[in-house]
Amino acid sequence: MAHPTAPEQQTLTPAAVFDWLDEAAELRARAGLTRTLRSRPADDPVLDLASNDYLGLVHHPAVTGAAAEAALRWGGGSTGSRLVTGTTALHTELEEELAAFCGVEAALVFSSGYTANLAALTALTDPDTLIVSDANNHASLIDGCRLSRSDVHRAPHSDPAAVAAALAARTHRRALVVTDSVFSVDGNAARLPELSAAARAHGAALLVDDAHGLGVLGPGGAGALAAAGLAGQPDTVATVTLSKSLGSQGGAVLGPRRVVRHLVETARTFIFDTGLAPAAAGAALGALRLLRAEPHRAERAREVARTLSARLTAAGLVASSPDAAVVSVRAPGPEAAVAWAADCRTAGLAVGCFRPPSVPDGVSRLRLTARGDLTDRQIADAVRIIGATAPAGAAG
Ligand SMILES: Cc1ncc(COP(=O)(O)O)c(C=O)c1O
Repeated sequence: MAHPTAPEQQTLTPAAVFDWLDEAAELRARAGLTRTLRSRPADDPVLDLASNDYLGLVHHPAVTGAAAEAALRWGGGSTGSRLVTGTTALHTELEEELAAFCGVEAALVFSSGYTANLAALTALTDPDTLIVSDANNHASLIDGCRLSRSDVHRAPHSDPAAVAAALAARTHRRALVVTDSVFSVDGNAARLPELSAAARAHGAALLVDDAHGLGVLGPGGAGALAAAGLAGQPDTVATVTLSKSLGSQGGAVLGPRRVVRHLVETARTFIFDTGLAPAAAGAALGALRLLRAEPHRAERAREVARTLSARLTAAGLVASSPDAAVVSVRAPGPEAAVAWAADCRTAGLAVGCFRPPSVPDGVSRLRLTARGDLTDRQIADAVRIIGATAPAGAAG
């Protein structure tokens, strides 16, 4: 029951109901954590190292052409839930080709990577499940853990021994180990072979969010499971987004056929969500076919990342050592990071800017996407601009 003397109940006018939002915004502003939207013009002249378009495919004619064709044939939207009217032949084709590309039995496409993660975490667990989740996991995995109604053990980042210990101590009937394949902020890879061994030794399933690995890791970009020799394993499931390397939008769960069947019949973000738009399904399919025909694209993205990191380090900055196509550069603080990113933009370079609460360790950073289509000249320009605009205190 509400407290009868709660001050809000006595004094609040309708206009005052949201006054606390202004106070919260003021607190964020004082901490240097204001976030604002900037609309991007179609012909933005800046060099883009801020997007997640890892392979530079978002404007590729094979991708945009497939999207346009799909929209013309199937319509602007999918018209309903996948179980009602939202499954077209295009969705089925995409699922079959995605599963074959990644070397798994089956795939199920969702409207986003976020909803794919919520589906996997809620449908593959129950109140008698222990979820062991890496401390640096993506927000969508954290939200999936929260929605799961399972006990969640937050394991120290990248620590398979701690994961094994948590699994060994469990009293729950089932267990699920969950990790990003490539961590979004620093671009370091999870220790998948050891995590898989730990999960297997304790009868647990392994769920890997391969949002930043698909198209970049593994042979031809087949993803982190393929890179770790885990694709097609009966106790392993991956989730992916179609919005990064594939230059589209949407997500998918990949794994054993019986997992996919279970998700179709029980996952709320599959059942109660409109199916992926045909244009997005078409674009992802176009990108997938391009990747199959041109498998060198994945290795080029990794090579660009290594080059960027080495050159930024040589310039005296603190750059992460990349396992995939993400490079981060440490900033002295949140305000400095925002100003640094703004100075880069003024100089013609778009970079990402990660600050608390998006960073697990409280350290603000610039985040660079090592796009596989960058030329050597563009890489040199990016390093020059980042070095020239670096704030005091950014040097290692
Ligand atoms: C690791 C990770 N998982 C999941 C998602 C969510 O994917 P989507 O944007 O397709 O919802 C993202 C980012 O977008 C991500 O970085």
